[in-house]
Amino acid sequence: MNAENFAVSQNNNQSRQDHFRLQLSLAETIKKSLNGKANQGRSPEAINLIRNRFKVAIQHTNIPLQKKYVRKLYDGVVDEIMGLGPIEIYMRDDSITEVMVNGHHQIFVEKEGQLIEVPERFVSEEHLQKTINKIVEPLGRKVDASSPTVDARLPDGSRVNAVVPPCAVDGATLTIRKFSKDRLTINDLVDFGSLDESMAEYLEACVITKLNILVSGGTGTGKTTLLNALSGFIPERERIITIEDAAELRLNQRHVVRLETKPPLLSNDSEVTIRDLVKNSLRMRPDRIVVGECRGGEALDMLQAMNTGHDGSMTTIHANSPRDAISRLETLVLMAGMEIPISVARKQISSAINLIIQISRIRDGSRKVIQITEVGGLEGENVVMQPMFEFDDQGENDGKVIGSFKAGRLRSMYDDQFKMRDLSFSPVPYNALNATKNGRQRMKVERS
Ligand SMILES: Nc1ncnc2c1ncn2[C@@H]1O[C@H](COP(=O)(O)OP(=O)(O)OP(=O)(O)O)[C@@H](O)[C@H]1O
Ligand SMILES: [Mg+2]
Repeated sequence: MNAENFAVSQNNNQSRQDHFRLQLSLAETIKKSLNGKANQGRSPEAINLIRNRFKVAIQHTNIPLQKKYVRKLYDGVVDEIMGLGPIEIYMRDDSITEVMVNGHHQIFVEKEGQLIEVPERFVSEEHLQKTINKIVEPLGRKVDASSPTVDARLPDGSRVNAVVPPCAVDGATLTIRKFSKDRLTINDLVDFGSLDESMAEYLEACVITKLNILVSGGTGTGKTTLLNALSGFIPERERIITIEDAAELRLNQRHVVRLETKPPLLSNDSEVTIRDLVKNSLRMRPDRIVVGECRGGEALDMLQAMNTGHDGSMTTIHANSPRDAISRLETLVLMAGMEIPISVARKQISSAINLIIQISRIRDGSRKVIQITEVGGLEGENVVMQPMFEFDDQGENDGKVIGSFKAGRLRSMYDDQFKMRDLSFSPVPYNALNATKNGRQRMKVERS
């Protein structure tokens, strides 16, 4: 490879591949020569050491390189030695929310809700799998053909999933949901247009009133983010217990106990599931139980807790509509293995769950609360649902969906409970709010 090759590196696959190969080989040579001396993170000493070794190594290559490419090469080498190689620049970039590697030759990132393919590559399948193991080994995990899937978390809280062959057919895949340092608040979600002021006010009233809330949505639609934002409404005086697979929730209240599941690390090691933790949390004097996601037998324990005085619990579920969320809960209850007839499961669900918030990624990539529905017991076989808000899709403009949130006409089933707590709620059509970013008019949850 020569300087000319580098010059066309953005357009030419082969030279780009050469660039990544040279970068990796330099990184490996330098790393070997360091004998573990640069393992202490990005300290100025370690960077200095690498810089000096890099200068020597580049002279040895005898390739006449343009200055700006040497700089690019150097940055890549540092990222390879101290970080996650080709994806490190995206890990550092706060505007990137997700990094997806589909085999060594393809990397996508998510930026502002859009998927973008980036030019970086891993040099080989081996390079990619080494990088995956670099992530999971400090956590006592390993991924290979005999144990081809792994879930892990980076020290900064980012969530990692990896699948390698034989389960990953076209080469190892790595998916990183980056942990955003600042969790989005309900006001951020209003500013993004994911819901409107009046919905936010209504949800605040529901949380304060201790309704049991289910956030329903597909993968990556913003369920955890919304759950976190809703938890922000829980009054400071209450004791909150959060239960998650990987602790993603960030609550600002002082009195929060965070519990996390534990996978079996060794073959004779025990596993602690969400269900175990839900059962355990009931002995911890909770005022609120917030479960990151319901996707197994814990659904039954949660419903039983909700029906026996543990009000104000919240969780998320993977479903595409409020009705679908109810059926999914039924399935999960049946999965608990207690041989409960479906009619009994439905009865439990309809009396335990008070509110379902449906969130969705609509076709322009934006995330919207498309429905908020109150749940009010059974009528015959059917669970009674009363939509309170809906997103009204009115078409597209310049690739962006236009629409507005519409409030339902019916009085809330929980109006009396709102009133008992000095919260009176009266939904107002979105337009009447005259919402602006600065000086937004607060809604009509009046505390007298
Ligand atoms: N309303 C929103 N507007 C814009 N971005 C959002 C919104 N809600 C969440 N996000 C971003 O979308 C990504 C996914 O969010 P989140 O983890 O809450 O989704 P999820 O539904 O819980 O995903 P999963 O199904 O994987 O658990 C995050 O990067 C988050 O910051
Ligand atoms: Mg989630």
